[in-house]
Amino acid sequence: MAFYGIFFFYIIFWTAVVSPTPILNRGYIPKTNNIDFTIEKVTLAPDGFTRQLSTVNGQFPGPTIEVNKGDRILMKIRNKLGESTEVNKGDCILMKIRNKLGESTAMHAHGMLQRGTPWFDGVPWMAQCVIPDDYEFTYNFTVADQVGTHWYHAHETMQYVDGVFGALIIHDPDDPFKSEYDEEIIVMLNDYHHTNAQILLKQFLTPESHGVEVRKIDISTKAPPGSKCVDNAGLAKFEFVKDKKYRLRIINTSAFSAFFFSIDKHEMEVIEADGLYTKRNKIHRLPINVAQRYSVIVTANQPVDNYIMRSEFQKTINLPNIKAIVHYEGAPDDPEPKDNPWSDSLTEYVDLDHKTLQPLEEEKIPESTKKFEFKIDFHKNSTGVVKAFLNDSSYIPDINFPTLDKIFKKKSFNETSANAYIFDKDGEVVDMYFINSDDGEHPFHIHGYQFWVLGTGNGDKVDENELNTHNPIKRDTATIPALGWIAIRFWHLESGLLIQLVTLPEEVLKMQPPEEWTKLCELGER
Ligand SMILES: *[C@@H]1O[C@H](CO)[C@@H](O)[C@H](O)[C@H]1NC(C)=O
Ligand SMILES: *[C@@H]1O[C@H](CO)[C@@H](O)[C@H](O)[C@H]1NC(C)=O
Ligand SMILES: *[C@@H]1O[C@H](CO)[C@@H](O)[C@H](O)[C@H]1NC(C)=O
Ligand SMILES: *[C@@H]1O[C@H](CO)[C@@H](O)[C@H](O)[C@H]1NC(C)=O
Ligand SMILES: *[C@@H]1O[C@H](CO)[C@@H](O)[C@H](O)[C@H]1NC(C)=O
Repeated sequence: MAFYGIFFFYIIFWTAVVSPTPILNRGYIPKTNNIDFTIEKVTLAPDGFTRQLSTVNGQFPGPTIEVNKGDRILMKIRNKLGESTEVNKGDCILMKIRNKLGESTAMHAHGMLQRGTPWFDGVPWMAQCVIPDDYEFTYNFTVADQVGTHWYHAHETMQYVDGVFGALIIHDPDDPFKSEYDEEIIVMLNDYHHTNAQILLKQFLTPESHGVEVRKIDISTKAPPGSKCVDNAGLAKFEFVKDKKYRLRIINTSAFSAFFFSIDKHEMEVIEADGLYTKRNKIHRLPINVAQRYSVIVTANQPVDNYIMRSEFQKTINLPNIKAIVHYEGAPDDPEPKDNPWSDSLTEYVDLDHKTLQPLEEEKIPESTKKFEFKIDFHKNSTGVVKAFLNDSSYIPDINFPTLDKIFKKKSFNETSANAYIFDKDGEVVDMYFINSDDGEHPFHIHGYQFWVLGTGNGDKVDENELNTHNPIKRDTATIPALGWIAIRFWHLESGLLIQLVTLPEEVLKMQPPEEWTKLCELGER
């Protein structure tokens, strides 16, 4: 039974250390980037089917944030979800309608370490109280020692599936691959639904769904009768110039489906995974799971023509491929180029082989000082709804009191449903084994840190002889295979399918959260 990706595992990691790594930018003076986001409902037709989406600044996907390593991001979030905007393209009339159906929100910048600013991680009821409707809140953090391809998304209910997300790119003045490509292109992969995600989630969280994910409930390819459609929405198009080299930044923002990404006739070379450089790794197809990011270099070395860029679903998901067009400058326009897929195909979803995916710079990883093993399974809770369980405990947020605030107020959070684990020894190195008894794979990711992937495999026991402790890849999102295991290692942790790892609570206590953050909780919004 596969599971809805939004429930991927979070390991929330709050670290009290303020930016321990010196900033190495050669001659670059960091600056503050003021980002101004209005979260609002807008009626759009991105694929030709007219529906209401939740958006950032009226766009789908939201605007791309581009900053440099070392910069500060001031991200102002204006929650206007209680206001819907009807855009009538024909005569350009913009109508704003206020209604009382506001929603609270919170914004998470995925992949950001939030060193010294755990309160700006954007996870409701762990890191913060929610931002009520018609209220403004500013996230204020630096990207001190980080680079690469990331994304931001609303972390409240299913808002990101309805459109509240966008790319977050941290450029590196010292990019080791800078001379290897001419241009950058951002490719966001997303499973886009015609039904509002809150409705999908409601359907999913009923005994009738039997825990079977969205595809059986929705993801219809045909619009229902009475739908408003716009003709010729067309396929997305990417422009190539013959012989130029492109760095494609690929971000999987799906709710449910993993994809195999490829461009007909064009090889790709992986150079980045989740914000960390990798050794060049030549591939035809890139498996990418929810929330993972990769950069690949593609050379426009084929005859001037049109080619298909494709995202294939796993074979077990009976859905058509998602296509876009790569159009070489000088080629005639062709709305339907012929299919020419690589003949070697991937069937079951597994991450890009972590044995061939190696970090660019060798790193000696520390010996572990502690080992934790977790069993993951999906079964009915006592009211008959299929939920995810980590060692028999399904996380339930305390919607009155965020965990981080409990640390500040010295309140306990030891109830089983908090799935909280406290690590109070400085410098602990923890191995975590996750054993998945579900027949679907599950992506999971960690907030505030990256982990080394020591290994993955089939079966219900970690094969310790198979673990790679020599130069393993470090990333923040990985996939636990169906009926299989993954072993990861990380340093100093804290977190929450969801474990909350609380690291060094005594150190966190010494920190001073900003007043605006404390004030959110006083608003009493749920
Ligand atoms: C952002 O945080 C920095 C460091 O704490 C602080 O100096 C600055 O005033 C903050 N900016 C805003 C607009 O809150
Ligand atoms: C994107 O993530 C989803 C969720 O796990 C996954 O099913 C899908 O395969 C991913 N896409 C790619 C291209 O791997
Ligand atoms: C989870 O349960 C397994 C047995 O099913 C046990 O060995 C393990 O220690 C438990 N993990 C934690 C973190 O308590
Ligand atoms: C089972 O899960 C549903 C959906 O989240 C929830 O409404 C219900 O309270 C849960 N039942 C128990 C006993 O926790
Ligand atoms: C949780 O902590 C409180 C306060 O320290 C204590 O009284 C209570 O027994 C603890 N509960 C559990 C389940 O450990």
